[in-house]
Amino acid sequence: MQERILDFLKRKQDYVSGEDISKHLNVTRQALWKHIQDLREAGYDIVAVPHLGYKLESVPDRLFAFEITSRLNTRLIGKRVYYFDTLSSTMDIAMKLGMEGAQEGTVVVAEAQTKGKGRLGRSWLSPKYKGIYFSLILRPHVLPQECPLLTLLAAVSVVEGVRRKTAIDLQIKWPNDLLIHGKKAAGILTELKAETDGISFIVIGVGINVNNDAKSLMPSASSLKEYRKEEVSRVELLQEILRAIEENYALFKEQGNAAIIEKWRSDNVTLGKRVKVVGREELLEGDAVDIDADGGLLIRNDSGMIVKVMAGDIVHCR
Ligand code: BTN
Repeated sequence: MQERILDFLKRKQDYVSGEDISKHLNVTRQALWKHIQDLREAGYDIVAVPHLGYKLESVPDRLFAFEITSRLNTRLIGKRVYYFDTLSSTMDIAMKLGMEGAQEGTVVVAEAQTKGKGRLGRSWLSPKYKGIYFSLILRPHVLPQECPLLTLLAAVSVVEGVRRKTAIDLQIKWPNDLLIHGKKAAGILTELKAETDGISFIVIGVGINVNNDAKSLMPSASSLKEYRKEEVSRVELLQEILRAIEENYALFKEQGNAAIIEKWRSDNVTLGKRVKVVGREELLEGDAVDIDADGGLLIRNDSGMIVKVMAGDIVHCR
């Protein structure tokens, strides 16, 4: 009901009498008053003036499920959103929902994470109301070894969503670190449930530093606000990213890897650079020459041999 009351107030953009709302939404005046109180508590600024009624003055930048789904206009991605105020990690809930058969496109979002997970066992700082932390369940018909491509798809989609909403051009560092002027502003983590003949589902986790203040960030990290010098609506940004994922996922299904790889190439800052692969037994350093159809990085070492790296981390040497 709260969602319908909000929708009504948003569409009116002016005072509406309690009687009108009650009649249209078939709710008693008393129940309406209670819902208005609850909405106020959630941060919605709703004024009540005798003889005029209620007016919605402002909406909080909270990632409530109905704020995300309303006017999202996608067919698959984000049709179902699970919202949490604070969670250990959206990955865990999304994996659990995936096992329980949640539909493809389901999103789990949290305002804060207490155990946000990064790649390679690292953690992801997830302060409340500052960033966007979400996990998306997909059920693509691909082999487990083809999954890195979906991570690239997510990276490309975050770049596109951020560009549309803020005009900031994030740069992709292989495989899927998203940078602003060399500092990390977003990251992507994927986990999957594989079967012998393919994957059952994949969970793509996205963390973005949105409205984090510079002083709260590690020296190697940045945020959209730090760069833009103004706050970004997290609701609108998340919606833009979900729309971009929907478009790119459709493109991937229609045209395969090539279209996604092409987009990744045009937004990346790794190809052409001297790179060092970290966390391997033996040292691997060379020139990043290309990425393969499955998302692997092709490095030409100093003997001229091409080595393919599928996972891990790299540093840009120059
Ligand atoms: C990285 O190391 O770059 C990946 C970071 C991924 C963080 C996101 S935040 C939402 C989702 N839940 C998590 O615990 N991690 C991912």
